[in-house]
Amino acid sequence: MVNIGILGVGTVGASVANILAENADIIEARAGKKIVAKSGVVQNLSKDRGVSIQLSDNPLDVVDDPEIDIVVELMGGVEKPYELVKRALENGKAVVTANKALLAYHRYELQEIAGDIPLMYEASTAGGIPVIGALRSGLSANHIESIQGIMNGTCNYMLTKMINEGAQYDQILKEAQELGYAEADPTFDVGGFDASHKLLILASIAYGLDAKPEDILIEGIENITQTDVAFAKEFGYEIKLLGIAKKVGNGVELRVHATMIPSESMIAKVDGVMNAVTIVGDRVGETMYYGPGAGGDATASAVIADIVDIVRGNQGPMLGYKKGLEKGLKLLSSDDIVTQYYLRLDVNDQSGVLATITSTLGNFGISIEEMLQKPIENEEKAKLLFTTHHCKESKMQEAIKELGKLDVVYGDIAMMRVEK
Ligand code: HSE
Repeated sequence: MVNIGILGVGTVGASVANILAENADIIEARAGKKIVAKSGVVQNLSKDRGVSIQLSDNPLDVVDDPEIDIVVELMGGVEKPYELVKRALENGKAVVTANKALLAYHRYELQEIAGDIPLMYEASTAGGIPVIGALRSGLSANHIESIQGIMNGTCNYMLTKMINEGAQYDQILKEAQELGYAEADPTFDVGGFDASHKLLILASIAYGLDAKPEDILIEGIENITQTDVAFAKEFGYEIKLLGIAKKVGNGVELRVHATMIPSESMIAKVDGVMNAVTIVGDRVGETMYYGPGAGGDATASAVIADIVDIVRGNQGPMLGYKKGLEKGLKLLSSDDIVTQYYLRLDVNDQSGVLATITSTLGNFGISIEEMLQKPIENEEKAKLLFTTHHCKESKMQEAIKELGKLDVVYGDIAMMRVEK
């Protein structure tokens, strides 16, 4: 028999305990051993958790319990779970965690501490979708060319509603929070940070890159307006918050931002709270993984998959391989990203303005691909919306600064990247 201790018996923790009990027959058949949730830890013992396991408010009752074989960490946060996971590993216990923030900051230290002891984290990225397993095992014959994913259900829900129903940002954020998908602090969702944690985890498996959130380009969906949505519709794009990892020569681009993507692409059709990740391997080609990125049972399903793998002895290096396996690969500076861009700016509606804009862009080697102009009611102004051909991020940033200095341009210039 294998005993499980759960740090954090909230929605996911309760699902883990309940699924282990309710699906015990199939889980035992697959793992080859009986797996039992023995105990759990909560902050507030007076709250009913809907589980029949023994509960304590002291994490050491699980981490130091000699009868516990596998510790499941579902607490959230970074430093406190780091100390507890470290202690559990030092006590010789295998660990399963769903904690993306913990891994975004400490995955390489934890891999070092774990050594040959299993430390698994399928539930940390895209919830119930077995995308970590796909990268660590299913695609292990491949060099990974790119990863592109909708990794935050809250943002995807909000964007879907804004695009399909014209819903307003604030109202729809409230709805997303009510669905229970949003982080305790929703700026983690709408600011792109949650997705960045997941992207960094995937990039470690794919490329062995030890980057932290501070090292990569992260933007959220806060500045998207119905004007952008109208442009996207007119020109056949969807807007998605994407996590993107892309190998370019000896460099890897890592970035999270709102992105215009062609409406006919598969990932553009992923709506609502669902997540999806597309991975391109050099041998397999394009593969895609779709499913629920959060939720009690879906996340618990991934946690239990890890438990079953550990019980089967089905491990391997935690991050797919040790750091630096892909020789010479380095993180590209965000200045060196090359992509297409969408710009939105308010301008004077008078002759010569367009020529001024295009010649300013031309000074940075940037040319326009598609354009739309919408008069602003009761003003002698217009909204100018356009996409550009490929250019370097640093050039685009400089061009935006120069555009902002023009007398004919008003207010802030909005920018979104376009991936085709
Ligand atoms: N806040 C996350 C989301 C939950 O909206 O997808 C899963 O990490």
